[in-house]
Amino acid sequence: MSVSRGGFSSRMGFILAAAGSAVGLGNIWGFPTQTASNGGAAFVLVYLVLAFCLAYPAFMAELLIGRYGQANAVTSMQKMSHKLWQKRFAFLVGFGGIICAALILSFYGIIAGWMMSYAIEPIMSLMGMTDAANWLVTQSLARNFIFTALFMLLTIFIIRRGVEQGIEKWSKRLMPMLIGLLILLIIYVFTLDGSREGFAAYLNPDISRVFEPDLLISALGQAFFSLSLGTSVMVIYGSYISKKENLVSLGAQVTLIDVSIAFLAGLLIIPAMYVAQAQGVAIFAEDGSLISGSNLVFTVLPSLFSGMGMVGLFVAFGFFVLMSIAALTSSISMLEAPVSFIVERKGLPREKATTYIGIGIFCLSTLIVFNISFMLDFIAILATQYGQPIIAMLCCVFVGWIWQRSEVLAEIKQGHDTVEHSFFWKVWPWYTKFICPSAIALVFWHSL
Ligand code: PFF
Repeated sequence: MSVSRGGFSSRMGFILAAAGSAVGLGNIWGFPTQTASNGGAAFVLVYLVLAFCLAYPAFMAELLIGRYGQANAVTSMQKMSHKLWQKRFAFLVGFGGIICAALILSFYGIIAGWMMSYAIEPIMSLMGMTDAANWLVTQSLARNFIFTALFMLLTIFIIRRGVEQGIEKWSKRLMPMLIGLLILLIIYVFTLDGSREGFAAYLNPDISRVFEPDLLISALGQAFFSLSLGTSVMVIYGSYISKKENLVSLGAQVTLIDVSIAFLAGLLIIPAMYVAQAQGVAIFAEDGSLISGSNLVFTVLPSLFSGMGMVGLFVAFGFFVLMSIAALTSSISMLEAPVSFIVERKGLPREKATTYIGIGIFCLSTLIVFNISFMLDFIAILATQYGQPIIAMLCCVFVGWIWQRSEVLAEIKQGHDTVEHSFFWKVWPWYTKFICPSAIALVFWHSL
């Protein structure tokens, strides 16, 4: 790893940063919302299968590309290409991923802004500033604009400082705290009326729904979104890992952390939804559909916290602060994708590149803020349900069909001497070549 590019200083540093990118609003806002709108436990089941059988292998493909190329996605893949059409294909895939990352950041910053405003609300309530507290938790153009701007400024500030000082330092300590708080809240919800029904809805799948096209495509998008795939992010993070590390196990650990946190978040939110409904909060319409849509988490959680009295104010503060930090460790990874590309390809200084790109993405966010539900849904679906799985699929195609097999195997072996005896070694290369691209294509074909 060249010193001037920067890199993760330790194995733990990478796990925390990659898990920091993976764990975010996707786990705690996206996954429960998707689960609630797509038939509960059936969605959970499909999600788990797709996360381990398709997202993990694709995740490994991206990490390996990055570590081999030691550069941004486009440059890394072009290093593996020998013919002109391969180089063009590499550009298309790498640059497509970077565009996806930028599009995702444009709406992600808005929802992360909501998390920040919900974190400040309990402080205002404690100080008796009821009007300000209400303003913070009510949808308005001004609030969305101000908090998106604040969140984007924080993201830009960290990325300007680079990998070690910025990304790695910020990713520490958060994960254990988040997991601890989630578990405590799950136990609390378990003691409340109505939660049993919620646990059943979450854990007892209706198998007949498993092959529904909408459910499949949403679960696929969610699995790829949650692992930050198809965005060039994991390629660039892979490029910062030392050649001495065992990538196969690092990737598996990050996947496990990510899926577990999503699973825990669902275990909290879905039962809490039923508790809220039992307490008279309108969650479901008469036909059983959800009333709140993308606001689900922001309806259910505050209602849960308010049932805890004064303690609820502190819990709400802790929860939304942790969520804001989780969102930040994801958003910095999204900004890192275009920034590293511009810095490495165009030679622009990191500070300048970060500021220009950050402002550009914020302008797009502003358009979304003024047009919120239409634009937000459109960009979210375009980038996450289509863009990410397609780009990730093309990365698998790239590894399987363009990158020379001997080089792929040599890269897997780096930092892992005994890999030749493993299941991964025997299965992953052909699995990524044939099964992953066809399975992803099949889900698309089925959903069309
Ligand atoms: N994986 C993040 C989450 O679950 O919140 C979202 C994300 C991060 C998506 C980075 C895409 C990305 F490039």
